[in-house]
Amino acid sequence: MSVSKYETVYGESIQQPEAFWGKAAQEIQWSRKWDSVLDDARAPFYQWFVGGELNTCYNALDYHVESGRGEQAAIIYDSPVTDTIRKITYAELLDRVSKFAGGLSGLGVAKGETVIIYMPMIPEAVVAMLACARIGAVHSVVFGGFAPTELAIRIDDAKPKVIVSASCGIEGSKVLPYKPLLDEAIRIAGHKPEKCVIYQRPQVEAAMTAGRDLDWNALVDGAKAVPCTPVAATDPLYILYTSGTTGKPKGVVRDNGGYAVALKWSMEYIYDVKPGEVFWAASDVGWVVGHSYIVYAPLLHGCTTVLYEGKPVGTPDPGAFWRVISQHGVSVLFTAPTAFRAIKKEDPNAEHLKKYDISSLRYLFLAGERLDPDTYHWASDMLKRPVIDHWWQTETGWPIAANCMGVEPFPVKAGSPTKAVPGYNVQILDSEGNELPRGEEGAVVIKLPLPPGCLPTLWQDDGRFLEYVTERPGYYVTGDGGFIDRDGYIFIMGRIDDVINVAGHRLSTGSMEEIVSRHKDVAECAVLGADDKLKGQVPVGFVVLKAGVERKPEEIVDELVRMVRSELGALACFKQAAVVKALPKTRSGKILRSTMRKIVDGKEYAVPSTIDDPSALDAITDSAKGMGYAKP
Ligand code: COA
Ligand code: AMP
Repeated sequence: MSVSKYETVYGESIQQPEAFWGKAAQEIQWSRKWDSVLDDARAPFYQWFVGGELNTCYNALDYHVESGRGEQAAIIYDSPVTDTIRKITYAELLDRVSKFAGGLSGLGVAKGETVIIYMPMIPEAVVAMLACARIGAVHSVVFGGFAPTELAIRIDDAKPKVIVSASCGIEGSKVLPYKPLLDEAIRIAGHKPEKCVIYQRPQVEAAMTAGRDLDWNALVDGAKAVPCTPVAATDPLYILYTSGTTGKPKGVVRDNGGYAVALKWSMEYIYDVKPGEVFWAASDVGWVVGHSYIVYAPLLHGCTTVLYEGKPVGTPDPGAFWRVISQHGVSVLFTAPTAFRAIKKEDPNAEHLKKYDISSLRYLFLAGERLDPDTYHWASDMLKRPVIDHWWQTETGWPIAANCMGVEPFPVKAGSPTKAVPGYNVQILDSEGNELPRGEEGAVVIKLPLPPGCLPTLWQDDGRFLEYVTERPGYYVTGDGGFIDRDGYIFIMGRIDDVINVAGHRLSTGSMEEIVSRHKDVAECAVLGADDKLKGQVPVGFVVLKAGVERKPEEIVDELVRMVRSELGALACFKQAAVVKALPKTRSGKILRSTMRKIVDGKEYAVPSTIDDPSALDAITDSAKGMGYAKP
């Protein structure tokens, strides 16, 4: 039997990872070559390219300008919400980044120090990220939709010397002032940044705190451009907080060397995109997709990246994506399935598509949540191009499973992100930690070591990192459940922990429960992810009130909704909750969440033999029906 190209490449990546990644690393410019490709001396803390030195910003900008790409657009900023389209060349971006980096250095930001970036989708967000990379500072971008309390938690964990922000974000037709949110977050946080650099947008003028806040333009005007600071391959490039199962987010650390190598490799072999082409990840710089595929990968690869400040619908219509593709000659589009569900809902026959020439588009890649077969078929019927589901997570930083267009395209099986990407040894384990045969569902894990680019640890929390790799020794536990079929296709069926995915945004039901339980009238609660046609999942709460509380349930629910919105953020979409007499529990007191989830989603369920009071399940069914759920 002949061996396919994928099998050869994949086999080499797993059997000889050092040779495989050592070769891939030659595509990156190093100021000092590594001593060893993979260091397992401190396993399960693996390190890639130990001894190597480089600068990620150099690879993303300077190198391209030196090799003749200076006049090519690095960024196309397309902002339907401000009616702006602006191209920024590699040379111009290098100039802006070097000056802003000089400004940060002038504020005393040194190699290894942290900077929080709380910005909307404007080029200055990218400038700030690359400027940090240039001077070896560690950035932590916080998504603009997070409320002050969440921002404060990240400030206290990352302890930034400087915070970079803007006067406002623009969400569709809403202008959202950011500065009051930032001020409130700093007020709540124990750690106080020395300085805040604020980019004043014309829509809102932010009030400045004398002595602490600096105007972006004034800082840049007085700054001198600075060169790149070489950093160790293993030095952190950024921290990106993501939801775990508790209220405390996990600070995923990304290194410089392994990340650059993996991203560069992925552009050629997964996305099949060439330097000079236009790559568009319609996401937000606050998410991992934004870090990897709006900013770092396209620039490392010499592509033009589109920075889109708009929505798939409503800015101004469901033809927005097609307009951007045709206007900028986009070759590859990457977004979340929810964006396509939103377009499909408003324009089921894709009438808007007829108005645009999207012949430049070769592929649509989707990730961030499960790609349901309906959306897959709709997208591929409408676009008539390969629609590629791929699966990954903040922790890995780049895809774990994909149909690798640059290795060997496989026939698609709807509902599957196809096969393991080279570098990832994906397995399915049962509850005892045994590898399961093909076709059987269990916990999806990756055999260690993880390939380059994945998290080496959590920010100043090696202990919590170990939870990923010690639950099933020798494996990294992804938190997803699923199976691998006979042909090696991976199927991801959803999280097996308390993480949910709302419109492609990863959220913790645990953190919502923490907020809800703080309400003075709430005795206990459970927040679950319910299936949602548009957003994939939405949170739904069930609360038990303290004895003696006689208030109207609607009033309490209203307060809970407002609490979650103001403490976690609007993006949580926590809009529904019901008051119930009791939560269904086992005799040992464990809330039967998975049974509750099945009830809410109208799925069949067996009454667990360990249940304390079966009538509690009927109460959940009735309340879920009252909220429009529990439909078979
Ligand atoms: N700053 C402030 N608020 C924000 C925000 C931001 N950056 N992003 C979202 N929000 C707010 C929204 O305005 C909305 O507020 P509302 O309750 O007052 O209406 C709330 O958070 C929920 O946002 P969202 O879930 O995005 O809902 P939506 O109705 O505004 O848009 C989609 C729905 C599907 C169009 C939108 O989620 C989308 O485009 N998703 C694309 C997928 C994506 O980017 N995924 C990221 C990972 S790849
Ligand atoms: P995040 O860290 O925000 O990228 O979220 C990662 C989680 O999103 C994964 O653990 C999965 O649960 C889910 N996810 C991402 N991509 C996919 C996909 N293609 N198919 C199924 N689930 C996905």
